[in-house]
Amino acid sequence: IRDCLLSRGLGDVYKRQRVLNSVLVVIIAFLFGLISLFALLPKTNVFAQADSGSDADVGNYSSMSTDVIYQIVTDRFVDGDPSNNPTGEIYDKNNLRKYHGGDWAGITQKLNENYFTNMGVTALWISSPVQNSDYIDPSNGCAPYHGYWGRDFFTPNQYFGTMEEFEELVDTAHAKGIKVIIDFAPNHTSFAVYDGVIQPNDGVLYRDGEYVSTYSNDPNGIFNHVSDQWAEFDTWEHTVYAPLFGLADLNQQNATTDQYLKDAIKVWLDAGVDGIRVDAVKHMSLGWQKNWVSDIYDYKPVFIFGEWSHSATTSEPNMENFANESGMSLLDFRYNTAIRSALANAMTSGYTMVDFHNTMMAMEQDYDFINDQVTFLDNHDQSRFMTEAGYNELTLDIAFTLQMTSRGIPCIYYGTEQYMADAAGGKSDPYNRADMTGFDQSTRAYQIISKLAPLRKTNPALAYGSTQQRWLNNDVYVFERVFGDSVVMTAINRNQSSGYQLENLMSSLPNGTYYDVLGNLLGGGNITVTNGSVSDYYLGAGQCAVWQYTADDEGTPIIGNINPKMSKPGNTVTITGRGFGDTTGSVAFGTANAQIVSWSDSMIKAIVPGGVAGEVDVVVTNANGTSSEAFAGFDVLSGAQVSVRFKVNNATTDYGTNVYIVGSVPELGSWDTTKAIGPLFNDTPTIGVYPTWFYDISVPANTQIEYKFIKIDGAGNVVWESGMNHVYTTPASNTGEVTVNWQ
Ligand code: NOJ
Ligand code: NOJ
Ligand code: CA
Repeated sequence: IRDCLLSRGLGDVYKRQRVLNSVLVVIIAFLFGLISLFALLPKTNVFAQADSGSDADVGNYSSMSTDVIYQIVTDRFVDGDPSNNPTGEIYDKNNLRKYHGGDWAGITQKLNENYFTNMGVTALWISSPVQNSDYIDPSNGCAPYHGYWGRDFFTPNQYFGTMEEFEELVDTAHAKGIKVIIDFAPNHTSFAVYDGVIQPNDGVLYRDGEYVSTYSNDPNGIFNHVSDQWAEFDTWEHTVYAPLFGLADLNQQNATTDQYLKDAIKVWLDAGVDGIRVDAVKHMSLGWQKNWVSDIYDYKPVFIFGEWSHSATTSEPNMENFANESGMSLLDFRYNTAIRSALANAMTSGYTMVDFHNTMMAMEQDYDFINDQVTFLDNHDQSRFMTEAGYNELTLDIAFTLQMTSRGIPCIYYGTEQYMADAAGGKSDPYNRADMTGFDQSTRAYQIISKLAPLRKTNPALAYGSTQQRWLNNDVYVFERVFGDSVVMTAINRNQSSGYQLENLMSSLPNGTYYDVLGNLLGGGNITVTNGSVSDYYLGAGQCAVWQYTADDEGTPIIGNINPKMSKPGNTVTITGRGFGDTTGSVAFGTANAQIVSWSDSMIKAIVPGGVAGEVDVVVTNANGTSSEAFAGFDVLSGAQVSVRFKVNNATTDYGTNVYIVGSVPELGSWDTTKAIGPLFNDTPTIGVYPTWFYDISVPANTQIEYKFIKIDGAGNVVWESGMNHVYTTPASNTGEVTVNWQ
């Protein structure tokens, strides 16, 4: 009953349709809950306990810092109900390009068997749950078993189950302390045109069973129609407005499309989901996505992370700007490339552990919130790690040890813990999406995850800590995560034939002897630390160890994270960390104090105060003092957002000079030319081609704003438009468009 109160009772707040039916149940459960809480927790006030949980609770869906995510391709996991399997040519269990019958009932079954619980997994990312077009792609014979060809984003994919089964999955997960993340693809519907031929489904879109539009008969402009002209991905602009492989590209700037996508995601938020993985964020404008994400945060501040595909360890400024400005996190593709290069592909890449560490440090500079990015070893779009590692299980075990203790939120691709490699016949899609081979809880990889995952909940150094290297050569990486007085130190030796004596190893661990958290699974032993110096330690060939110290009480507050990363006055945000104490203190956003909703030692919920906007510093104060370091750069929006397309005609420039926009609100840089938005786009037929420039920007709704376009040359020189500022009153909702001539 206590579980029921804490997880179900709170989670159900968002299931509006079911609230009435459940009121009676909740009241009865609450009364029983009160009685049992009195019995279990005599020492504290029951109401305070029920309101303020810890950062590790399943109810903390705003942040995934303490979680380990497990990515499931729903169709390929478990067929829990063969009666819902498709019939006809889209279904063939022997063909990796067709539906195989996996469903939500199958995932619920594995939840009930504690496959995830015993592994320590605390969040599931499942395939997009929306109804797809029944369609076979003529280019490769693929059916939409993967869920990326949406047809009706308000309706469940019937081959995955009913809405009741979806909710049962969510409720079962929550009762086990596991969050549920859905994939969601607002970029496109299904294929419209292939090889110049209109496809049978023609990218059709429905809204809760009602026809909206097809791609080729689209009088209301639901879709972008640049596909007939070109489809190139050589610039970010082309990537945003051209169709992805011929998939009908939704025009999010259209008011109906914008509202459709804002309403559709609420169906799934109401069903209880805790997070969203947004497909193909590189292919949609930052402005529209920021407005959409901000609308979601107003409704339910779940954790959102996007897929910006990138296969290099080097910086991609547009990607990093997106991670820092969109209000959502990203899947960490640079980390993915780095860990695959250093471990799976070490032989061919020439990439060392020194290179790996250097990439980690470079990324800390490029990302404002490195701990919120989602790390992964492999996924459904790349070859499996085991294939790349030449089927060497120890290499994968080393990679898991590194990933589970690194900064960022670890995500495990289904089956990797079973040492699944790509299926016979090829690499990557679809060979990387074979049916789950088994559910053995004794594989060493599964054991390693089950030892390290719980540490993310208990030791805040993993969730929030900094990263520092302590011993480094081409093969060995010893690094430390530190948060307040809590420490986790990991030692990795990727060399499977030679060991190293770790001379002069230093550590922040306090004096004492530490056991290997892995319990010797990879050959680790004890260390003794005396005044920051570690007893001589020999790290044998292919060995790894993890040592940790969890501080009891931090005394003064330390902020670990604030989520969501973008908010506006009136929104409730979650501040996680340690040392907040049990007695309510205060939180300041810039110069304004926030109203406190709940308070515990590791988690505060506070309402963003009015009178602040732009990037602000946040500090927590309690009876013991004020957090010594402010949480910097928290993004406060001016108000509810709308996506506006700003256009300027006749803005001629010399080669190397670009046009930007700057204006009176923080969303337009508050007249600071170093924060101007751009460079604007100027190369999309049907939208704007040089000397017309345009950009879709998230700005406050129903607000009179002033702005100007500026030209910035390669040396950073700024030329302003002359004359008066342009003045524009933004729409109260949805989207807007405003065009002026360069003056
Ligand atoms: C990226 C997804 O991860 C991939 O699997 C999918 O095919 C495309 N986006 C299109 O939705
Ligand atoms: C300085 C610019 O020169 C001017 O054109 C602009 O109107 C103002 N900033 C806005 O305050
Ligand atoms: Ca099925």
